[in-house]
Amino acid sequence: MKAIVQDRYGSPDVLELREIDKPVVEDDEVLVRVRATSVHPDIWHVVAGRPYIIRLMGLGVLKPKSGVPGTDVAGLVESVGKNVTQFQPGDEVFGEIVGGIQWKHGGAYAEYVSVPEDELALKPTNLTFEQAAAVPTSGLIALRNLRDGGPVRSGQRVLINGAGGNVGSFAVQIAKAYGADVTGVDCTEKMELMRSTGADQVIDYTQEEFTSGSKRYDIILDVASNLSLSDCRRVLTTDGTYVLIGHDHFGNARGPWLGSMPRFFGQLALSPFVSYLPSLNFSKSKSLMATLKEFMEAGKITPVIDRTFPLSEAAGALRYLQDGHARGRVVITP
Ligand SMILES: NC(=O)c1ccc[n+]([C@@H]2O[C@H](COP(=O)([O-])OP(=O)(O)OC[C@H]3O[C@@H](n4cnc5c(N)ncnc54)[C@H](OP(=O)(O)O)[C@@H]3O)[C@@H](O)[C@H]2O)c1
Repeated sequence: MKAIVQDRYGSPDVLELREIDKPVVEDDEVLVRVRATSVHPDIWHVVAGRPYIIRLMGLGVLKPKSGVPGTDVAGLVESVGKNVTQFQPGDEVFGEIVGGIQWKHGGAYAEYVSVPEDELALKPTNLTFEQAAAVPTSGLIALRNLRDGGPVRSGQRVLINGAGGNVGSFAVQIAKAYGADVTGVDCTEKMELMRSTGADQVIDYTQEEFTSGSKRYDIILDVASNLSLSDCRRVLTTDGTYVLIGHDHFGNARGPWLGSMPRFFGQLALSPFVSYLPSLNFSKSKSLMATLKEFMEAGKITPVIDRTFPLSEAAGALRYLQDGHARGRVVITP
């Protein structure tokens, strides 16, 4: 089959289109014929091997252990392992291959990929394969942090910092689906995108600092990851919550060795003592996928697709994302 393979870490130029063997399906796995997969910042991290610490966390020290990137898949079931009970050949499915650990290769940048049964769900019939492939990784992180981290409730005021990006666009729609009043913060060019996904108020971070304003929020979801805890504390309600996602901005915002990890784990260590920090939650992807599917079928979440690239141009797709051109999700089709 055709696949995108990397033999070494580096810029998107290390990605090459090659012929490799089709994956072997294990007993509890499903072989999916890929119809679409997505591009997101964590793909950049695994291709670059940065921050360097992720190479020691199972990715591979000197070179990637498994060379085919891609964490999201939407496609058709080709065959199933002998223990698989939920799917059969011909089913239209979608899911996140890597089970919530995005800093590794999932193998979706290929014509076929083998996926554990529990990471898949039937694709909502009202979505195209491209739309479905855009959802899992970004949608799961948005839902996990809002539903379990927040937790988001009807009538709350929720601010999403970076609401015009991949995770942010889903976070706006998810918070709206739970009945929250949503304020989106992003750059001038993304004001319309934030309104189109349902934000009730939008703030242009180049013009206004919301942390100096008088409005209070029940949840601040910091996807852009540039806010200080003390600034946010000022604009949180007394029982409000600050939720950090962590963004290295393609290696530009944090150090090359540890990236966002010191800040993220520092907050986690503080969380038992600081009321406005959530503790780590381990919701299973399966229950989160079911909720995402329900919201999509009800028309409460609609992925915004910016551009679709062919598999052979995977390097160009990643560069397009890194250069900041995307206004919505970037998708790859074999
Ligand atoms: N996407 C995924 O599937 C996924 C999955 C797991 C984890 N993550 C992690 O989640 C983080 C965010 O990912 P993402 O895909 O949502 O990134 P993204 O698409 O780059 O979104 C971040 C948004 O924040 C905006 N922004 C930049 N500076 C800002 C500021 N000062 N104030 C407010 N907004 C600002 C960016 O706009 P401009 O830069 O255009 O100004 C962009 O719209 C990354 O660290 C990623 O590793 C992502």
